[in-house]
Amino acid sequence: MLDLLVRNARLPDGRRAMGVAVEQGRIVAVAEGLDAPAHEVVDAGDMLLSPPFVDAHFHLDSTLSYGLPRVNQSGTLMEGVALWGELKPHLTQEALVTRALAYCDWAVARGLLAIRSHVDICDPQLLAVEALLEVRRRVSPYLDLQLVAFPQDSLLNTPATLAQLRRALDLGVDVVGGAPHFEQTMADGATSVRLLCELAAERGLRVDMHCDESDDPLSRHIEALASETRRFGLQGRVTGSHLTSMHSMDNYYVSKLLRLMVDAGVHVVANPLINITLQGRHDSYPKRRGMTRVPELLAAGLTVAFGQDCVMDPWYPLGSGCMLEVAAMGLHVGQMTDQAGMRTCFDAVTTQPARILGLEGYGIAPGCQADFVLLQARDPVEAIRLRAARLRVFRRGRCIAQSPMATAQLRLEGRPATTSFMPGLAG
Ligand code: FE2
Repeated sequence: MLDLLVRNARLPDGRRAMGVAVEQGRIVAVAEGLDAPAHEVVDAGDMLLSPPFVDAHFHLDSTLSYGLPRVNQSGTLMEGVALWGELKPHLTQEALVTRALAYCDWAVARGLLAIRSHVDICDPQLLAVEALLEVRRRVSPYLDLQLVAFPQDSLLNTPATLAQLRRALDLGVDVVGGAPHFEQTMADGATSVRLLCELAAERGLRVDMHCDESDDPLSRHIEALASETRRFGLQGRVTGSHLTSMHSMDNYYVSKLLRLMVDAGVHVVANPLINITLQGRHDSYPKRRGMTRVPELLAAGLTVAFGQDCVMDPWYPLGSGCMLEVAAMGLHVGQMTDQAGMRTCFDAVTTQPARILGLEGYGIAPGCQADFVLLQARDPVEAIRLRAARLRVFRRGRCIAQSPMATAQLRLEGRPATTSFMPGLAG
């Protein structure tokens, strides 16, 4: 007897009336009309069963700290960095853990079951590192948390920072981070990229750098990142996050850069909510959008994900862990409104970030982990359009979160008063 059978589901690839069979936390069969005895049977009601959402770029150490100690008035990246610097001396491990765990609860309820979070390693005590390692341990039964050692205040400005980053990796942080545009000179930025890629190669780790989060078209650290990726044989293990300067670069240069990035197999994470908010702040009109060139990067064959980046912190006053909101913003900012483009935006918060994180057994296929989300939508485009309710969230075949269907009762003149329907849902 099966542990779980989900029947009558639609899948993101368009297959309908599908059954998904689960035993011991793994999917053992996926087939049309599948029926078999099971301890638990869930009728999907012809709704969309998707692999869980994945966020390839987040900051769990600053999340839910909005207003502490004050609000970012200018809305710029740099005031956010300054504000975080004001908050850091007052942080406690207990407060960091409490806020991060609260956000993880939000995430699970939203069907977001894997997060790559950067963690600031510039504090000599590594308070945030210790806190997020504890959070990773506590959430591991229900959420995959991958941590990136992030030198928020730059790697080379302070002599001790590289040693602190190494210590964070020694303690169990998973990925080597960086922020070459925060170094004092372009040359220092390039040096930091080389040192960090070398460190990742030595330790066999992945790399994910905040890279060129700037409107300066001459911020070209992605070029160094791609080059060092090849030099150290890190192809497929390196991610450039943000890459907003690409928005403002010369087209000829970008045509050359894209080839370099493809050769190096670097992955890309755009953060549409944050990029559209923080970038272009020094412009009058026209104001640049700031998000990197997502359709062109995809057309070149690169793996591109959308990240949430921030929720209620010094950089962003909104957000709720809803990756469908992230996909919707990416779709708009990237003008990806054709059918294929919209579906790609759904992939950018599911399969593409799963590839970047290197998640094992991700997907709805025999042999995969039985992790999935039942959405109140018929297909991925409708899920984005409606920010579909997450009716049920499963982890290893067990339902760990449930939400009611979104319905409405209308009381309109000349019409029956009890009409109940799901607003916007296709028949
Ligand atoms: Fe970030």
